Amino acid sequence: MELSSRLGYGIRLYDDSDLLLTPSRKCVSAKGAVVALIQALPWEPPCRDMELTGSTESSGGTPETGKVEPILLQRTGVGGLANQHGHREAFTMSILKASPLVEALQTYSAPLEGRRGLLRLDFNENTVGPSPLVVAAVRAMAPEHYGMYPEYDKLKHRYAQALGVAKEHVGLFNGADGAIHAVFQAFGAVGETLLMATPTFGYYAPCACQQGMTIRTVPYGLPGFHYPRQAVAQALQSRPRLLMICNPNNPTGTRMDPDWIRAMAAAHANTLVVVDELYEAFTGDTVLPLALQQPNLLVLRSLSKTAGLAALRLGFAVGSPGIVERLERVTGPYDVNGFAVTAAFAALDDPGHVRSYVQEVGAARDWLLPRLAAAGLRHHCDGGNYLLLWPDQDLDSLVAALRRRGVLVRPMTGKPLVDGSVRVSIGSCAQMKLFWERYQQCAAVV
Ligand SMILES: Cc1ncc(COP(=O)(O)O)c(C=O)c1O
Repeated sequence: MELSSRLGYGIRLYDDSDLLLTPSRKCVSAKGAVVALIQALPWEPPCRDMELTGSTESSGGTPETGKVEPILLQRTGVGGLANQHGHREAFTMSILKASPLVEALQTYSAPLEGRRGLLRLDFNENTVGPSPLVVAAVRAMAPEHYGMYPEYDKLKHRYAQALGVAKEHVGLFNGADGAIHAVFQAFGAVGETLLMATPTFGYYAPCACQQGMTIRTVPYGLPGFHYPRQAVAQALQSRPRLLMICNPNNPTGTRMDPDWIRAMAAAHANTLVVVDELYEAFTGDTVLPLALQQPNLLVLRSLSKTAGLAALRLGFAVGSPGIVERLERVTGPYDVNGFAVTAAFAALDDPGHVRSYVQEVGAARDWLLPRLAAAGLRHHCDGGNYLLLWPDQDLDSLVAALRRRGVLVRPMTGKPLVDGSVRVSIGSCAQMKLFWERYQQCAAVV
């Protein structure tokens, strides 16, 4: 409703069961928001994937005036529709197909709704917020800058300086996810292979599927979830296009020796080795900056986790200028928003904020782990600000009970090797005390 009044066309938002026929009777649309937007525009055939073609029996429409005067139709049963004058309409619906690769995909989504105000231990975000310098900088942003496309050069320079590399090595993206997407767009292709150890971060596989790549997975080693070095080294012999390494790995926390990664990249020049270092601040393991002498090695970082800017979306790819430039070829010219750029300068000016958060997480982890052990709960914790926990109770009931008590955790249902566990992000000491108290309460009742 709010949208319709803001658009100023005196329209209403229709629900999904409504259908809309245009004066020219060429198009009918179903989804509420889309319908509203279509009506808001001078009449043009709307987005093609919603297009409807067919014949009508009635002439109950409105003359073509150029003005939008939609006729609302309601479903009347099999094969027919009636407009508001009661005339029946008959037509066939054909939805324009996307590319065959896209038709084979499913939407990749994460359970992000309704999390505000709860203790968020489900996405490994910073749980205490960004530096006060960031808050001040975003608040101080001149309204004039809201209306301008952002500038990126100085931020690239600033970030490169923080890493001790040259600016040409740095690319800015809409979160590390934006960089991951660009990697696959630029280097993935039908018939090429993505190699990765599993379980790992869930976005690599859909990006590979979007490009029609073959995915070759090698399981992490049990019982300790060690990286399957030998199997990966062997699989590299068949020259995969991409090797994704998450270090430390999400969700197992597995730490990888940077020297081994560098050696693998050096020995396999035809494979782009991408090291996702989103949680590097918690381990200090990195292939930077020396790795930048290795042209097929790319590092991904982000301000989402430790710096507490997940909502602003700012990620970095750091590698040889030739690789970074190719990623930029498949990235929009203003994909990173101006608030993120402003916030990033302030976050980089306050490394102490990240340091103290990392320390706090370490202390919270040291507080929690002995309690899990004493309770006899199976758990696994290595690098990163998260751990895996195998509850004795029914997983879904426990997760739901925790949510009712204000605590969010992430079930690993369906993930190889960790199915049946929950991933719990580690926040501050006070937060982990609260988590443990609520966990015990829930475990006692479900
Ligand atoms: C390993 C890993 N890579 C990338 C991302 C995405 O990060 P960003 O928020 O920077 O897009 C996440 C987020 O959970 C992650 O865990």
